[in-house]
Amino acid sequence: MQSILEQLETRREAARMGGGQRRIDAQHAKGKLTARERLDVLLDHGSFEEFDMFVAHRCTDFGMENQTYPGDGVITGWGTINGRMVYVFSQDFTVLGGSLSATHARKIVKIMDMAMKNGAPVIGLNDSGGARIQEGVDALGGYADVFQKNIEASGVIPQISVIMGPCAGGAVYSPAMTDFIFMVRDSSYMFVTGPDVVKTVTNEVVTAEELGGAKTHCSKSSVADGSFENDVEALIEVRRLVDFLPLNNREKPPVRPFCDDPMRSEPSLDTLIPDNANTPYDMHELIVKLADEGDFYEIQADFAKNILTGFIRIEGSTVGVVANQPMVLAGCLDIDSSRKAARFVRFCDAFEIPIVTLVDVPGFLPGTGQEYGGVIKHGAKLLFAYGEATVPKVTVITRKAYGGAYDVMASKHLRGDFNYAWPTAQIAVMGAAGAVEIIHRADLGDPDKIAAHTADYEARFASPFVAAERGFIDEVITPRNTRRRVARALASLRGKQLQNPWKKHDNIPL
Ligand code: HXC
Repeated sequence: MQSILEQLETRREAARMGGGQRRIDAQHAKGKLTARERLDVLLDHGSFEEFDMFVAHRCTDFGMENQTYPGDGVITGWGTINGRMVYVFSQDFTVLGGSLSATHARKIVKIMDMAMKNGAPVIGLNDSGGARIQEGVDALGGYADVFQKNIEASGVIPQISVIMGPCAGGAVYSPAMTDFIFMVRDSSYMFVTGPDVVKTVTNEVVTAEELGGAKTHCSKSSVADGSFENDVEALIEVRRLVDFLPLNNREKPPVRPFCDDPMRSEPSLDTLIPDNANTPYDMHELIVKLADEGDFYEIQADFAKNILTGFIRIEGSTVGVVANQPMVLAGCLDIDSSRKAARFVRFCDAFEIPIVTLVDVPGFLPGTGQEYGGVIKHGAKLLFAYGEATVPKVTVITRKAYGGAYDVMASKHLRGDFNYAWPTAQIAVMGAAGAVEIIHRADLGDPDKIAAHTADYEARFASPFVAAERGFIDEVITPRNTRRRVARALASLRGKQLQNPWKKHDNIPL
């Protein structure tokens, strides 16, 4: 018996060594952790239970029979994050560059199936040279099997991808179908085709970092949702995100103990809105003052900064926040901000996370760039996402709510449950100057008349009261009491039940 146990331990030790000490040292030399070290940081200490440690590939082409490694380049299993179950896979770059073989794919599919059955998120730590070249179509098929699982799991369990090394070719499409993608700065890349192919086909000379590094994907392409300085920071932040999320679509979001009074009054909010309607202010301030303990987990902080998206807690429960940011492009809606917010709203709705919307929006950004880029269709994504969402929706208009953007931003007409406005709110088809130019065109040569018309328009619409008279605004609230009012609204909506008409699925404008 003793020798059998020793044999088991020897086999386990061989699996733990992955591609061997030389390659582990090379991984460390790049400032990266190994696949197992990453799981140690991600999961609660001692909670990891591994599956398929001894699985090996069966490829015999190109001398592969002499290159087998127990586990085949990916470590899979489950563990806990602050006591809550998650399934994980962690690709091991020291084994054939973390490349994906048919068996490697099968291991990932297996834990995804279990995650769906048992209702727990999947976190993938990606560090791979893509399809295992020696396996050809078997590897391609393996990828497609993983893609299919990503699609089936979408909206059932949260899926999180962390890109911690190269991620090329088809390897990018599995993360692309997950809910959140995080990258590590200077050591992770995502591209469909690498710099060499780009040079050959388009004659562009570009570095891997420029083409598919964290900065590119967090600020230009919006493929990624956030980036971090190193492996450890990325994994710690994923732990923090998981704390906000429900484990699956059958569960309510988690409720955590809190030590921040939901009735807290914030007198400083009474003076947040500047006297001049065109002076910007930082919407972060309102979000942080609304949140329990000022904790805001921002998603896509570096992309489309004219809208803010992320998670806070109120009375310990997770809430998704969408907020126009007057500091950037006056907080207008455009193609990028509509896409960013629409995806976030859909995530919240899929996982029963209530949405708080903070509105200060002068309208949609005009221009050929926007129209040629399809702002109609992209703006419609956000409109559609809010309109189809059945989760509790609480809206606070702080200042401008102009034009179509008023409708879009979780208005009463899109089944907003509580629509509040600060007394500084202005709800109109457009700003007074623009409106007067159109409806009093004949008086344009007379500055006195124009001034009088402008004052008249402002008196009528530069307030929340016309909308409040019609019941489109439920209540005009004192800014300092916003946290209390929002907390009470959300508390009253905990039993909300609303269903859309039966359909196979909708046809959101993609
Ligand atoms: C098999 C691979 C591999 C792969 C890397 N390796 N990629 N083995 N299949 N795809 C192996 C290397 O042979 C090497 O083995 C080890 O991993 C480390 O690779 P290096 O090149 O030494 O590392 P580095 O210099 O850091 O470069 C990493 C890399 C590069 C950028 C990922 O290896 C690379 O470009 N690989 C090929 C990428 C690629 O074209 N993949 C296919 C994409 S197409 P040793 O034994 O020396 O340690 C695709 C299609 C999927 O994925 C479609 C699905 C729809």
